[in-house]
Amino acid sequence: MGENYKGRLCIATGAARGIGKACAAKFAEYGGDVVMVDINKKVLEKSAAEIAAKYGVKIYAYVVDISSFEACEQFMAEVNAKIGTVDVLANCAGITVAKHMIDLTPAEWERVMGVNLRSIWCLSQLFAKQLKATGKTKGNIVSISSQASKIGESANGVYSISKAGINSLTQVLGLEYAEYGISVSAVCPGYVNTEMVQEVFQKRSIVEGKTPEEYEKELTSGVAMGRMCEPEEVADLMAFLAGGRADYITGVTVTIAGGKTLI
Ligand SMILES: NC(=O)c1ccc[n+]([C@@H]2O[C@H](COP(=O)([O-])OP(=O)(O)OC[C@H]3O[C@@H](n4cnc5c(N)ncnc54)[C@H](O)[C@@H]3O)[C@@H](O)[C@H]2O)c1
Repeated sequence: MGENYKGRLCIATGAARGIGKACAAKFAEYGGDVVMVDINKKVLEKSAAEIAAKYGVKIYAYVVDISSFEACEQFMAEVNAKIGTVDVLANCAGITVAKHMIDLTPAEWERVMGVNLRSIWCLSQLFAKQLKATGKTKGNIVSISSQASKIGESANGVYSISKAGINSLTQVLGLEYAEYGISVSAVCPGYVNTEMVQEVFQKRSIVEGKTPEEYEKELTSGVAMGRMCEPEEVADLMAFLAGGRADYITGVTVTIAGGKTLI
């Protein structure tokens, strides 16, 4: 059974490609209007046009660097003024750096933490404030964490830490935002078949002294289902969690990793 997003305004960050794009498409497929956010203008505009043509709902494309609090504030104010109150926030944007902790620079730490974790605190705060201000009593936040938050990954340390932060932020917001009628959840995907994961396999294999093929085989051999996840599978789960039927699920992370991790 599908979800019903008709009459709901959704934000999806990191929506130019990969899981964020799949998530925006899923909201649109279920009748929602979607504000697609990304830092990559060219790819974002192409994806937005594609989704608008396919589903016939209202699609808006906003270029925002979500690691900047000021940029997020300006963005949310503009959306509220020009489009309306946002009902659903899907935090999908994320980056990584293929380095061991011993080699990581402060700037790399700040960048990954800023994009992956601080942006979610910031956008969630702005989201809750605009709902409160308009007297709406229902909203949904769903964020993409990672299995790396639960198992940790070598040469992917600051990413793993940022994602563990999302799990904790989800718990805290789940508790604090319940009084505003906002459910807050996160998904922890395993290896998802996107351009990002292929780039990561390439870069991290070098750091780990392996060929990309050896490295990919080593990582994915532990997946009980014997395959990678597709972006649409993650998007489906996110659409369920933020779709209204799952409003009593809050403060938790749901793993979607084909049995690679059982937590
Ligand atoms: N692919 C996987 O195997 C996998 C597994 C677990 C979790 N995830 C998470 O899922 C999410 C999406 O991953 P993906 O594989 O689709 O990656 P992707 O690289 O294909 O997409 C990420 C998008 O985020 C955008 N982005 C990056 N920095 C931004 C910024 N500062 N402001 C706005 N947008 C920005 C990028 O331009 C890109 O379009 C990420 O949070 C990632 O950590 C991915």
